Amino acid sequence: MFKDFELKRICRTSTYNLSSQSQVRYEHSYSKPLYLTTTRMTMGPARRHVSDNKDAASLGQALKFEFSGQTARNRFLKGAMTELLSSWDADNVEARGVPSEDLVNLYRIFGQGDIGLMLSGNIMIDHDHLEAAGNAIIPRGSIFSGARFEAFKRMAAAAKMHGSLFIGQVSHPGRQVKSNIQKHPISASDVQLEGNILGSTFEKPRAATKEDITNVVEGFTHFHATNKSTFQTS
Ligand SMILES: Cc1cc2nc3c(=O)[nH]c(=O)nc-3n(C[C@H](O)[C@H](O)[C@H](O)COP(=O)(O)O)c2cc1C
Repeated sequence: MFKDFELKRICRTSTYNLSSQSQVRYEHSYSKPLYLTTTRMTMGPARRHVSDNKDAASLGQALKFEFSGQTARNRFLKGAMTELLSSWDADNVEARGVPSEDLVNLYRIFGQGDIGLMLSGNIMIDHDHLEAAGNAIIPRGSIFSGARFEAFKRMAAAAKMHGSLFIGQVSHPGRQVKSNIQKHPISASDVQLEGNILGSTFEKPRAATKEDITNVVEGFTHFHATNKSTFQTS
């Protein structure tokens, strides 16, 4: 389980893999927060919540979404996990965000997993407001044909090949666009994301104007039209 550790106070669970000398605060619903200092730590078993109802059969049952009328064949969901497998060009912004064959292949493999519903990772609406290089992008006003559109279609078709539902997740990064991508972020307020976060820094945003907000709404609406024509047909 744990190796080479020094405990200030022992807690009963850990699934975390920590770098050396880190201190972690564990919250438990049934106990006070506990603190653990490690010099090295390996993965340990997760604490299991005991339940009287152990029948997982409902996970295999279909689930109808009344609003869309679509039915997921089971209740497993693949969460949104940013893939960063789309094109990136530091200078030519219009060449960014086209899904690569690796991304199509990733969804082909997810599609073989018999997952009821899959959410894509972040798909952005601007070439230069990105969470990171390699984000997929459906730019505001882009046409529903050509190389970009066809690549998104291949990605969706691969995801759905074995009957999964697939939803493209539209995103705007707001203040969380890396400094090397955008020097003038917009956000809900001008509060900056400070410090170095996992190797990234972020500029101070300006509070979005009414025009900025209209642009984002337009991007999301345009995305929705693409989402319908690309991801939810065939
Ligand atoms: C590598 C990674 C990438 C993620 N990318 C996205 C993303 O693109 N969009 C999003 O809404 N959430 C993203 N998330 C958050 C997850 O969808 C999920 O909400 C989060 O991991 C909490 O679920 P968990 O406790 O099961 O990990 C990401 C999480 C991880 C670990």
